[in-house]
Amino acid sequence: MSSLINEISKRRTFAIISHPDAGKTTLTEKLLLFGGAILTAGAVKSNKIKKTATSDFMEIERQRGISVATSVMSFEYKDTLINILDTPGHKDFAEDTYRTLTAVDSVILVIDCAKGVEAQTERLMEVCRMRNTPVIVFVNKMDREGKDPFDLIDELEKTLSITTRPLTWPISGGDSFKGVYNIYEKSLNVFNASKTTIETKIVAVESLEDPALDTQVTPRYAKQLREDIELIESVFEPFDINTYLSGEVAPVFFGSAVNNFGIQEMLDTFIKIAPTPRSRFSDTREVKPEENKFTGFVFKIHANLDPRHRDRIAFLRICSGKFERNKFYYHVRNGKEVRFSNPVTFLAQSKSVIDEAFPGDVIGLYDTGNFKIGDTLTEGEKFMYRGIPSFSPEIFKELVNTDPMKTKQLEKGIMQLTDEGVAQLFIQQPGNRKIIGTVGELQFEVIQYRLQHEYTASCRFAPMGYYKALWLTCDDKKILADFCRKKANYIALDKDENPVYLAESIWNLKVTMGDYPEITFHETSEFKMDIA
Ligand code: G4P
Repeated sequence: MSSLINEISKRRTFAIISHPDAGKTTLTEKLLLFGGAILTAGAVKSNKIKKTATSDFMEIERQRGISVATSVMSFEYKDTLINILDTPGHKDFAEDTYRTLTAVDSVILVIDCAKGVEAQTERLMEVCRMRNTPVIVFVNKMDREGKDPFDLIDELEKTLSITTRPLTWPISGGDSFKGVYNIYEKSLNVFNASKTTIETKIVAVESLEDPALDTQVTPRYAKQLREDIELIESVFEPFDINTYLSGEVAPVFFGSAVNNFGIQEMLDTFIKIAPTPRSRFSDTREVKPEENKFTGFVFKIHANLDPRHRDRIAFLRICSGKFERNKFYYHVRNGKEVRFSNPVTFLAQSKSVIDEAFPGDVIGLYDTGNFKIGDTLTEGEKFMYRGIPSFSPEIFKELVNTDPMKTKQLEKGIMQLTDEGVAQLFIQQPGNRKIIGTVGELQFEVIQYRLQHEYTASCRFAPMGYYKALWLTCDDKKILADFCRKKANYIALDKDENPVYLAESIWNLKVTMGDYPEITFHETSEFKMDIA
């Protein structure tokens, strides 16, 4: 096997997603412990901003610092190189999470067994479904009273529109939680919590009739387990790895992250079934990871915390070939040759300079403003990777310059901040009106603060009553141009000069769509990347 193929087959790149508080941070930490990447619990900082209802700007800044360190965590486990991409917990940073999902090959979704599927989980799963990303579900906090596992499975299937397949099954829950049964390995992982210690032990069982089950979990719970498994086997199709890989079926595991329970079963299955780095689509062709020439794309940009240094770190996902330090690569959007003398990789919380990296890896490139999200690097071929969508923002405000002496700084600042993906910028004529669209209020604070501290520009925001921004396409260019002229008050251009319609309400949108059936209104810019 060539060394490139060997490197690719070792790698698994994924993200853990959850509604805040379901246990993403705790699970990440336990996985790192398994991989020996950290030695003690508590090393991964919880994304605490998600817990403060009011926005505290300095806390955000602090978190931004932490999140650089924890943006990518790599570790080895049983000869597999695992890259976990962190996603921000706070809902106002949902766009960041959506973009991170474009750079992974699979995801693990964490659900709190008491809360079930929560609002943010639904949005995140929509993004996964758009891309057919394989999903594994981990139902967490089984040591606490929660919903009935069958009800949970039902809820997952209904609200997330995905078929599930339990691979482990809980034996009771809450105070009487006895452990999980591994349906495929036919083994029992016994949970035994006393006030001070938690013991776990794996017991192999011959079959469900094995009396060892009764002795381990009491006859009452053994009986319940037998009935549950019988029901599962009659209702669910046997697990088929291909339906998982195509994003149709999500295997489900149960456990308790904080107690390090039920995680190993999932991790061992994960390294067996999770996809190796997959092919990606560019605007000209499909690119396979094993192609010899290096290619990759930027999915995240992180500004430096120190205002004296305006450099940033661009996170690049490698899609094909081998990346090498100090080699010249082609920056497709601006047509320049670029090279990187100190690209970094991330091992748990430390950054280190690397000489080479392979498909599936994420590296950090120091940047002085040449990158924006979605940029592609190649060895000369001209194409751009698809699949970095913008989604319709939910809050719109006009950016008003309050210091005319600093107009240039404001222009530059807002361009760079929106290149980083802090918010979306739409320009409306006449007068070059700048409309900022976000999914959360926090972004406006971030923009105002950063414009002031990094660009010495001042601004305020005037609320605008729009409900959504929709990207427009039409086969007949004349109809689209006519529409844009007639509805000029509701039309703006995004940064790539695509027209968007700013709808005032769902009602107004419906009426307009009815009036113009030839025009398609898209809620994401993903239509640009529809795969032929
Ligand atoms: P998040 O990243 O998804 O937001 O969740 P995080 O891991 O921070 O976990 C949220 C809370 O849930 C934490 O408690 C954590 O200890 C707890 N937790 C995680 N897994 C389990 C579990 O299996 N069982 C139980 N009972 N609790 C669990 P906290 O009080 O908010 O924070 P901390 O002070 O314990 O860190």
